[in-house]
Amino acid sequence: MTTSKDLLGQLAESAPRHLAELVEWLRIPSVSSDSTRVNEVKQAANWVAEKLERAGLAVEILPTQGHPMVYAESPKIDGAPVVLVYGHYDVQPVEPLDEWVNGPFEPTIRDGNLYARGATDDKGQVLTHVQSVCDWLASGQPLPLQVKFLIEGEEEVGSENLERMLPELKERLACDCVVISDSGQYSDGQPAITYGLRGIATYELTVNGPSQDLHSGSFGGAVMNPAIALCQLLGSMIDGQGRVQIPGYYDNVRELSQEERNQWAGLPQDDDAFASAIGVNKLSGEQGYTTDERRWARPTFDVNGLTSGHQGEGVKTIIPATAKAKFSFRLVPDQNPSEVTTAVEKHLQDHCPLGVSWHLEADHGAPGMLAATDSRFVHAANAAIESAFGVLPVLIREGGSIPIVTRFQEVLGCDCLLLGWGLSDDNAHSPNEKFRVEDYHRGIRASAMLWDEIGKLN
Ligand code: BES
Ligand code: MN
Ligand code: MN
Repeated sequence: MTTSKDLLGQLAESAPRHLAELVEWLRIPSVSSDSTRVNEVKQAANWVAEKLERAGLAVEILPTQGHPMVYAESPKIDGAPVVLVYGHYDVQPVEPLDEWVNGPFEPTIRDGNLYARGATDDKGQVLTHVQSVCDWLASGQPLPLQVKFLIEGEEEVGSENLERMLPELKERLACDCVVISDSGQYSDGQPAITYGLRGIATYELTVNGPSQDLHSGSFGGAVMNPAIALCQLLGSMIDGQGRVQIPGYYDNVRELSQEERNQWAGLPQDDDAFASAIGVNKLSGEQGYTTDERRWARPTFDVNGLTSGHQGEGVKTIIPATAKAKFSFRLVPDQNPSEVTTAVEKHLQDHCPLGVSWHLEADHGAPGMLAATDSRFVHAANAAIESAFGVLPVLIREGGSIPIVTRFQEVLGCDCLLLGWGLSDDNAHSPNEKFRVEDYHRGIRASAMLWDEIGKLN
């Protein structure tokens, strides 16, 4: 029997290779939303499939209507728990390119950090579990549980194909617990188990006015300006105190329990440091809630992009024919994305100025998630993380969304364990995304210890 000590020694020896392999994977520009990158996305899937295959797992590439998913499993162990590791190999777009110090797909180490798109979200994090399983198998010892992997290529575009296919994959993905590393530590050196995520509902709104751009001198004052109408519509959705103004929006919002608020109040939050780290002079948000409460457990409205009229150099005095906005809501339990869509449509109907028309496209929708905070898997993770990081994790919720997680809970009927190795300044979705090299290695050690701890459960 391999002792965990032997395994940790082996992981330390393999550290340079672990890092070199992550660098190799990060070089592949797997931007799922970019239709010119279809081949690169596929290449990134193949890369991890081959890595798992070389380690002796049974691997299958599952085609979808979009980008492929990689499925792999270690041998079934009678009577032992089954864990499904879920993660994604697709990454977000890299623009604005000129803000990157190194090219987004030219991974570079500076000051103990590995910089590249996907470093923390999610190639670096999901690879911690791949590495721990591969090394465990390489040690010649059987794993004390069965590990399955599902690593998909469409998380950053809403996981719709996986969602559609989940019922037919139910048997294959059957497990006691899904393990996901696609979130963060609470703060540097303070690891966390995330038991809640917000959901999401995203939209594109188009406001159409005249059939073509008009001279604003000849027509201004006589025609409703679509860009102004769009601003008014967007402005009508939220007040100055951060409260969403769409009737019914808060109807199903589950309020925070006092217990949860007390527990979070004990976390070392520092609003001033948080504000200055992101370059703002003051935080802002819904009255009556702390920063962590606002980020993790309150629903929001955000504008993500605006387009209308003249964007080029100099002045062009026009009334633009159309104006567009991409906007989104972060949702919390028990809000329902399609009910939000209905409420938004009604709100637009009631508020759209005369003289323009609107068209709304709903894009991704996923509900918020809550997981158990005291399951046997949480206990196993506590021990594993403590042995790798030297401190016990804190229990937190996070504000981001992993669209498929609630479907895992519903369809697979399994527990959910979110173990984040990233840091809040890792620049996910931003220029100069990074993952601290030490956190990658600690993540691999924690993952290896997790298999040991979960193996002891039965
Ligand atoms: N890894 C993130 C989700 C996340 C972010 C979890 C922060 C915890 C903290 C994931 O890759 C992501 O970015 N999801 C998108 C989903 C969307 C594109 C449908 C998100 O949250 O915007
Ligand atoms: Mn992610
Ligand atoms: Mn992401």
